[in-house]
Amino acid sequence: MNNKFHIITFGCQMNVYDSEVLKGILSQKGYSATSKPEDANLIIVNTCSVREHAEVRAIGRLNELSRHKLENPEVKLAVIGCMAQRLGERFLKEVPTLDLVLGTEELFKLPDYLEKKGKSPTVALSFSELQKIDSLPQRKNKFSSFVAISRGCENFCSYCIVPYVRGSEKNRKLSEIIKEVQCLTEYGCKEVALIGQNVNSYKDNGCDFAELLKEVSKTDIQRIRFMTSHPKDLSLKLIEAMSELEKVCEHLHLPLQSGSDKILEKMNRKYNSSDYLRLMDSVRGKVDNLSLTTDLIVGFPGEKEEDFQKTLEMVQRIEFDSAFMFKYSPREGTTAFLLKDDVPNEVKLERLQMLIELQKKIAQKKNKSLIGKTEEVLIDGKSKRDKSSWKGKGRSNKTVIIPKGEKDENLLGEIVKIKIADTDSFTLFGEIIKKR
Ligand code: 5AD
Ligand code: SF4
Repeated sequence: MNNKFHIITFGCQMNVYDSEVLKGILSQKGYSATSKPEDANLIIVNTCSVREHAEVRAIGRLNELSRHKLENPEVKLAVIGCMAQRLGERFLKEVPTLDLVLGTEELFKLPDYLEKKGKSPTVALSFSELQKIDSLPQRKNKFSSFVAISRGCENFCSYCIVPYVRGSEKNRKLSEIIKEVQCLTEYGCKEVALIGQNVNSYKDNGCDFAELLKEVSKTDIQRIRFMTSHPKDLSLKLIEAMSELEKVCEHLHLPLQSGSDKILEKMNRKYNSSDYLRLMDSVRGKVDNLSLTTDLIVGFPGEKEEDFQKTLEMVQRIEFDSAFMFKYSPREGTTAFLLKDDVPNEVKLERLQMLIELQKKIAQKKNKSLIGKTEEVLIDGKSKRDKSSWKGKGRSNKTVIIPKGEKDENLLGEIVKIKIADTDSFTLFGEIIKKR
């Protein structure tokens, strides 16, 4: 029997991180990763439950993989993560070929479950404890890595399944986070993105998120990002830490979700549009060149045309650098699921399209105003479209493309200063003016 595994990841950065951690654990146990499912004896699908669409895609993929398993009965098929947690035993009815259904914390014990012999499928869903993990995650991007600082969420936004599938918020120990960051730098990592469902509420032994940023700044890591921030927990102390700490990038992902106070209340977001505007002024006043990004939902139950107009007005007024925009998707078990999903799908689609158009124009305008300015870029690969150009991320979190110079130097992993020569709504194009 070969020991090759193939892992497919749906969903957010936390899922990407979990898959990287699991790859680390499996490698330590003698398994090796393959990019081809047909070569693997163990196929793992890490799933997302935030919207129905992600679940439909995961089921589709699992059904495809089931055919491979039916032809090769020695292959083990595992489904892990949020959807596994949500469906549990019910998953076996959807995909009868499954060998393992492991929830959001149990997934880290996958090798132990594999060793247990037995014919019937394993379903393991407990998530009250953070799993202790000793192996180093296997990162796809060597130069920029996610580091989870907390798991779970207890905000219970009315539309969101996360608190149910990931449990209440559990913070990692400060010392463990610092150890992971320092270890990453020894492997050549230049940037970490500290991730959690709500990083602002981080606490360990009296140390809050602003203090955590200060501690991470003292390691050898060169750049620090973080996400996601909940507007209700964004403190002045954190804003000050952002402006004072040189290594912390000037990027804030602050989900607004809706511009209508009525809808924000129904979403249980615990702030209104004026609170959000005040926060934004305070961050923009303190952090120069701030790049502000957000998440927005259209078509939440009871969203009338005038509520949607308020979202458009807020987006127009705030001018986000970019936004993730979604159609509301009812999730069984959430409190919003009890409300009538009364915005017809065509109206949701129409609103989404309008919002995307508006945001695209704003991003285009904002990016144009950057032409001639400088940006510090961490180069992490080649441009997909033009293999002769370098690609990287600016401090703003925007993608930057740099045409290769005459000298075919290897700039992978370097932080360079560029002058922005051209832009479109999503990308900056620039020329190197200085290497660090
Ligand atoms: N429907 C649509 N979008 C959702 N999100 C979370 N739950 C839902 C849902 N039920 C969005 C929010 C959140 C992002 C990660 O996903 O905007 O910030
Ligand atoms: Fe979901 Fe709200 Fe928690 Fe974000 S803060 S994960 S939207 S419940």
